[in-house]
Amino acid sequence: MNRKIEIIHGDITKIPVDIIVNAANSSLLGGSGVDGAIHRMGGKEILNACQKIRAKQGGCKVGEAVITTAGNLPAKYVIHTVGPRWNGGNNHETDNLKNCYLNSFIVANNNGATSISFPNISTGIYNFPKNQAASIALETITDSLYLYHNIQKVNIVCFEIENYLIYKELIESL
Ligand code: APR
Repeated sequence: MNRKIEIIHGDITKIPVDIIVNAANSSLLGGSGVDGAIHRMGGKEILNACQKIRAKQGGCKVGEAVITTAGNLPAKYVIHTVGPRWNGGNNHETDNLKNCYLNSFIVANNNGATSISFPNISTGIYNFPKNQAASIALETITDSLYLYHNIQKVNIVCFEIENYLIYKELIESL
């Protein structure tokens, strides 16, 4: 079992870490779910930074990741990544979800991060089946830890107990 990964049942905006990952949408203008919580707790600075990115490159494509200030959050940065909306499973949902984790690692590594917290991307409003999403997340995070040695700590922060139990079972089986 990888010692660097911790499964936490809680609120991602409350856990001090270098990087908090947001499950955003392509507009980068905020939303509900974890996106809403991050903007609410992080404050206007985050939205302003997102608007600058929009002005430069439009929004953020599914599977891609951009980085902003973390505002008032207990972190240095927020990485906004856009998960796939579940659409039956034959529309590259798995690859796009994998890319969310991969690209977040790349951006985190490029910004000198040593710790990162992920929410359960796409498993809320975007309806990605929780078990499948958990397997994809854990596999991609485990592989990425071998690639990016600077990242010493990964928190998978489960807001819902259902996801927490899925991840606990999965990580014990690794
Ligand atoms: N901390 C950690 N996880 C949270 C928090 C929080 N404070 N609030 C919600 N979550 C969890 C949800 O319970 C879910 O397990 O984040 C996971 C992802 O759910 P959503 O936030 O709905 O994200 P997603 O399914 O990727 O849908 C993205 O929702 O909020 C909008 O703007 C966002 O359009 C985008 C869509």
